Amino acid sequence: MYKALKKDLKKIRESVNIRVDRFLPRKDEYPKNIHKAIRHSLFAGGKGIRSYMLIKIYSIFCEDVEPIMPLAVAFEMLHTYTLIHDDLPYLDNDDFRRGKPTCHKLFGEDVALLGGDTLLIYAFDIISQMEVADKVKAEILQKFSAMAGARGLIGGQWEDVNCEGKTVDKQKLAYIHSKKTAEFIKLTATLACLLAEASEEDTELLEEYAGNIGLGFQIVDDILDIEGTFQERGKSIGKDLESKKITYPALYGLQESKDEVEKLMMRAKEILDKFHDKGLMLQRFTDYIYLSKW
Ligand code: IPE
Ligand code: IPE
Ligand code: MG
Ligand code: MG
Ligand code: MG
Repeated sequence: MYKALKKDLKKIRESVNIRVDRFLPRKDEYPKNIHKAIRHSLFAGGKGIRSYMLIKIYSIFCEDVEPIMPLAVAFEMLHTYTLIHDDLPYLDNDDFRRGKPTCHKLFGEDVALLGGDTLLIYAFDIISQMEVADKVKAEILQKFSAMAGARGLIGGQWEDVNCEGKTVDKQKLAYIHSKKTAEFIKLTATLACLLAEASEEDTELLEEYAGNIGLGFQIVDDILDIEGTFQERGKSIGKDLESKKITYPALYGLQESKDEVEKLMMRAKEILDKFHDKGLMLQRFTDYIYLSKW
């Protein structure tokens, strides 16, 4: 069922990876261990869903995707930085990521910390080199910074660890999921539409679409931490329960979490319907995110 989508995901992932490779210093360049570590994490086999969404949303409006490719690289670099740091003992303390030992397990905590920092900085570096009007670049940088900072992703990551083992309300859970995951994914639509000069109406719709995918994606991640397998996920299972994380299943139960995913999916697909054939691959992608694992 997902044959065409998987082919498309692979094609886009490969073209993003070629650009990542071109941008990065060679692995034997000094300081070697930092460069080796970031290459290990970046090429360990991530799904590439953020860059995929960015490029596919942009392609609804523009055929030539070349102008958005540096931004796709920036999304994958920032994402990989968040994972390297997320896995560190001070946060989630995980030994496996993308089916391989985590960055700090292979290269040490010092190198993983600094390697993560490097990727965070490179993400901004590559955006700064984009060939777009200064005003547009400034807006991209401002939105990207807002999403990644302590009012954004870092705030979500902090509350995610701070709330371990605590009794919290649903509002706090919504904050954590929105900040650590959903807003990053939603930004794919905001920036793709900005670069493509999409109308305000289309931008709003696609932001709602990507926001739904973002939240749904994190709920699915929570569910699969209970129901998934190491083989499918390439990371440890049962960690959320063990660490007493604030997750959807923990607060709402498994069934209600699945119902919420279903609701988000229906609305996401309804939005894509408005884009007819142009939204076809994203329709399949939406099914794949929500339904492929259970
Ligand atoms: C993992 O993201 C972190 C979450 C937000 C759940 P992905 O599942 O996109 O990670 P990779 O890039 O495919 O490894
Ligand atoms: C990850 O959430 C969110 C970020 C890395 C920003 P999780 O901690 O649930 O992700 P996994 O399960 O380790 O991939
Ligand atoms: Mg985490
Ligand atoms: Mg984690
Ligand atoms: Mg998780």
